[in-house]
Amino acid sequence: MWNIEEIKKDVKNNLSDYRYNHSLRVMEEAERLAKHYKADIEKCMLCGLTHDMCKEFTDKENEEFIKKYNLPKELLNPENKNIIHGYTASILVKEKYNFTEDMVLAIRYHTTGYPNMDLLAKIVYLADKIEKGKDYPGIEEERLLAYQNIDKAIILCLNNQIKHLKEKHKVINKMGYETLKSLEDATTN
Ligand SMILES: [Fe+2]
Repeated sequence: MWNIEEIKKDVKNNLSDYRYNHSLRVMEEAERLAKHYKADIEKCMLCGLTHDMCKEFTDKENEEFIKKYNLPKELLNPENKNIIHGYTASILVKEKYNFTEDMVLAIRYHTTGYPNMDLLAKIVYLADKIEKGKDYPGIEEERLLAYQNIDKAIILCLNNQIKHLKEKHKVINKMGYETLKSLEDATTN
């Protein structure tokens, strides 16, 4: 069984310093959020630490990984370019570290969330967006809301993401819209 220090070393070995430092900050933010919302602190930290561990795969490595684990080939399509690393990491953390199913899901969909996500997934999603090294328009409001109303904070993050992508003439993966709808339904009922 791996402990957090061993996993830290393993993640460090697989990432650039830039992304490893981001991963550490996501882990720390996930810890703060977990304490605030009384979630499972260790699970939140471990997911924060490992969520990007496949983000530096080359196209070839992605292709090989998809083949090896028999994953949907659509993951290699351009519209999934920003979400494939969550999917591949979710397979690896299960295989390598024996992470539980809720951790697998939180990591798999950390870029867009997913409909009816649990508290762990919400924390991992948000920690990735608001960790201390990030700076983009609207982030201060997201940081404030993150500790007041987690659902509304995610709605804000998703809307900001959509706006930002639109400005770059890109669109968010359809899963992002599904998450948004699910959270909007939950918060207005
Ligand atoms: Fe990340």
